[in-house]
Amino acid sequence: MRKLLLLLGLTAFCLCVFVAADEQPNRQADKSSLKEDGVLQLKKGNFNKALRKYKQLLVHFYAPLSGEGHRISAAFEGAAAELKGSEVKLAVVDVAKEKELAKELNVTGFATILLYISGDKLNPVPCPVPQSSASILTWLKRRSGSADDLIADLSQSEASEELTVVGFFKELNSEYVQMFYAAATDLPDINFAVTQNNDVISKYGFTHDVVLLFKKSKLIQAYKMMPETSKEMLIIFITVYQMEPATEYTGQTSTQILSSPVLNHALLFVNTSSADFKEIHSAFNSAAEAFRLKMLFVWVNVDEPRNGRLMEYFRVREFEAPLIRMVNLTDHVTYHLPSDTLDVQTIKTFCQSYLDGKAKPKMQSEPIPEGWDTQPVKELVGMTLEKVGFNPDNTVFVMFYLPYSPESHALFPLWEELAEALKEREDVVVARIDASANDIHMSMQGAYPSLCLFPALHAERVVVYNGKRKVKDLLKFLDKEMKKAKKDRVKEDEDRRKYIEAAKAEEAKQANQTKDEL
Ligand SMILES: *[C@@H]1O[C@H](CO)[C@@H](O)[C@H](O)[C@H]1NC(C)=O
Ligand SMILES: *[C@@H]1O[C@H](CO)[C@@H](O)[C@H](O)[C@H]1NC(C)=O
Ligand SMILES: *[C@@H]1O[C@H](CO)[C@@H](O)[C@H](O)[C@H]1NC(C)=O
Ligand SMILES: *[C@@H]1O[C@H](CO)[C@@H](O)[C@H](O)[C@H]1NC(C)=O
Repeated sequence: MRKLLLLLGLTAFCLCVFVAADEQPNRQADKSSLKEDGVLQLKKGNFNKALRKYKQLLVHFYAPLSGEGHRISAAFEGAAAELKGSEVKLAVVDVAKEKELAKELNVTGFATILLYISGDKLNPVPCPVPQSSASILTWLKRRSGSADDLIADLSQSEASEELTVVGFFKELNSEYVQMFYAAATDLPDINFAVTQNNDVISKYGFTHDVVLLFKKSKLIQAYKMMPETSKEMLIIFITVYQMEPATEYTGQTSTQILSSPVLNHALLFVNTSSADFKEIHSAFNSAAEAFRLKMLFVWVNVDEPRNGRLMEYFRVREFEAPLIRMVNLTDHVTYHLPSDTLDVQTIKTFCQSYLDGKAKPKMQSEPIPEGWDTQPVKELVGMTLEKVGFNPDNTVFVMFYLPYSPESHALFPLWEELAEALKEREDVVVARIDASANDIHMSMQGAYPSLCLFPALHAERVVVYNGKRKVKDLLKFLDKEMKKAKKDRVKEDEDRRKYIEAAKAEEAKQANQTKDEL
């Protein structure tokens, strides 16, 4: 189980890092001023009451430090004003404070939004992450409406500046229409229309049921509905062609990029002011055309300070640009294009080898720092983590931290203090590791910073510390886990002894039998 991927934790973490670019910390203050007639602030104590009181309760589970959380909160407040007097009530839960409630409700993801209907606590409906208050209103409306609401005059929709998705269906009660409507519900930020106008459709020469994408009066793509078409396929088609072949990563595009159902991303880190930018960008764009629906192409300007966190996550330094990284968002493994030339052919070949599973993952470990074990808190890296951690003679307490996270920084003094308190204990090591710089190949839960104990005598076990962040409590936990490890070890030794005795007895019996037979 050590070769795990920190799926949940890392997803949340990755999202945090991705969206942190446009974080607006000064919006934090207005959380406490929420009034009864706006967005409800729910806690463990009043959640059930709210559930009983409101026929539809839409709850945003937010993490106070995230930029995206702030954006959604603003959308919630706008939507709450519009929904005044309706049967839908909007509410928020601070998951950092309400850990117990979040656990009880099985809320693990980041920026989770759930609609509770008629007090049913067990079967909430997940709401897509909204861009604005209008998305929330559209989602609620589409949820309770039907495809008939989308019937529109195509000539009007065609003219829109925004992307418009138009479904042309011969029969309005077909399964295709149901599927189209389900996709529209999941994509509340996009305009959808349904038409049966044969004249308009024959203009484009289609004779079958088809989904058309229009942007600025231009037909940009068509998708023929087929028996094997699923809602998911339709959503991928729409969300991919909604974007340009290659998209710049910015505060505005980050949500779209991260909520894309395409989970293979090619990231170009480039200085947009550099002389060769145009050429590289053009090559990247051309390659992107060839991998649409399979890979998302995103470019990141290294000359933009707000992209610093993203670059730290991918361990890219500005002087290394231009370079291309591939990331598989299913398992968070990254790949590095091993070439100095970034022309169309090189990029395409690399993308194809990645999709064929032939690319070599980037194994991240920083070099072992000089004097890493001379300070009270030892500095581990990818290469030393397992060796130090899984050592049967030492109990090792490791902090997994992110160098750019204020929450991680806040724990550094505590770790120094802990190391100081344990400096006479030769059997205990206090250490830390930069989790953004080093690939961590072991099972862990939760987001960083994470405090994990590797008990001695039990070299394969990792225990996550979830208690109070006080030295006193950490020491208590340490002693308890060390005693437990010792006890487990005695029992293991006993079991092993019994097993060996039984095996010996069996052997002797066999030997006796052989002797008798002779
Ligand atoms: C949470 O998950 C557990 C185990 O899967 C389940 O028994 C429980 O009913 C769930 N609770 C909610 C509120 O969904
Ligand atoms: C990007 O390129 C411009 C022009 O060459 C240069 O002035 C700037 O320092 C570069 N930025 C970074 C972060 O390297
Ligand atoms: C991405 O990761 C998942 C899970 O490990 C894996 O099944 C899939 O094949 C990977 N995709 C690529 C293109 O490597
Ligand atoms: C083997 O045989 C001897 C005598 O033949 C007997 O005393 C002894 O108990 C036997 N051992 C086992 C394990 O059966």
